[in-house]
Amino acid sequence: VSRSFSRLSSQPDRPSFGIAFDIDGVVLLGHTPVGGSPRALKRLYDDSGRLKIPFVFLTNGGGFSESKRAQDLGHLLGVNILPSQVIQGHTPFKQLVNRFENELVVAVGKGEPAAVMSGYGYKNVLSIDEYTSFFDAIDPLAPYKRWTTKPDIDQNSTTNEMAKRKIAVQTQRVQAAFVVSDSVDWSRDIQVLCDILRTGGLPGRETGKQPHLFFANDDLEYQATFPTERLGMGAFRIALEAIYNRIHPIPLAYTSYGKPNPSVYGNAETVLKNLMASSLSNLDVENITNYGNRCFKTLYMIGDNPKIDIRGARQAGDPWFSILTRTGVFKGKDNHSEFPADLVSLRPCLVHLGVRNGKWNPIATHL
Ligand code: G3P
Ligand code: MG
Repeated sequence: VSRSFSRLSSQPDRPSFGIAFDIDGVVLLGHTPVGGSPRALKRLYDDSGRLKIPFVFLTNGGGFSESKRAQDLGHLLGVNILPSQVIQGHTPFKQLVNRFENELVVAVGKGEPAAVMSGYGYKNVLSIDEYTSFFDAIDPLAPYKRWTTKPDIDQNSTTNEMAKRKIAVQTQRVQAAFVVSDSVDWSRDIQVLCDILRTGGLPGRETGKQPHLFFANDDLEYQATFPTERLGMGAFRIALEAIYNRIHPIPLAYTSYGKPNPSVYGNAETVLKNLMASSLSNLDVENITNYGNRCFKTLYMIGDNPKIDIRGARQAGDPWFSILTRTGVFKGKDNHSEFPADLVSLRPCLVHLGVRNGKWNPIATHL
């Protein structure tokens, strides 16, 4: 992407709306853009590549830092995206850093879960791949697996140093496990998480109080490249919880983040407001501050999952307006019966974005 991102145009008729795009099933299917998303997103920028309409990506997915995700999305979609425009399921884990800054925590999931957590300020974090490598035979099925999850060995460390490190990890209590993104090896991860959780963070040793457990989202299913939905983090949570509750007398305690929690929408509103404010003159910024949350007349949530995206926008209330696409989880003809959207996209996704009466108009059919 060669066009440079600069501040939002500070034209007097600045937009009174912002947009939150879900990613999987709305903007992308797997790694492929869907519904004309690159063309639609380009319309949110002026000819010189300056952002005209404040928008964010509001996804329950993750596994990479917000800056890496912004870069990758920029390449796929052909626009320049700021890290602050990417809100992922695990983004709120940033707020928990003070509680666990120096504690040993384990990060689970595809991509670079430990790097994500280090980026948020966690100083003593291990990916579950690395953590597992310190416990011989913790996964009895490992010899039968055709892939390796063993992290690269630090060539500079001596055998003695490695043995010391192994003992240090084995004797340090894990204080929290963070499921950052979708588990790659459910059997290994469920086994090792059960070990961590039922022993009070010391696998193979004793029993103790359950360490904290956080999930970045609770999506039962999501839409990727395959024609029907794929099992998501919520499905993994159900499997872990069902097994844990059969082997442990005290039920599993956990917290799930991500949509449809109303706080996610509140945070998105703040980000959109900041995005808008960063482009305006001091006078306008003052006005925005004075107007408080009324900075936007409407905030559009464009999603494909009624139970997640639409339900969340409905719960968040004013100024959110929900739009349901048919490119992802939702494949119905009419509106969803339990969680109806304010608008159901007639055609794939973002074709509604357009210009009317010389003004930017996100949803031509709505206004
Ligand atoms: O793993 C990703 C999935 O659970 C949801 O992603 O972009 O549809 O919120 P998204
Ligand atoms: Mg989706």
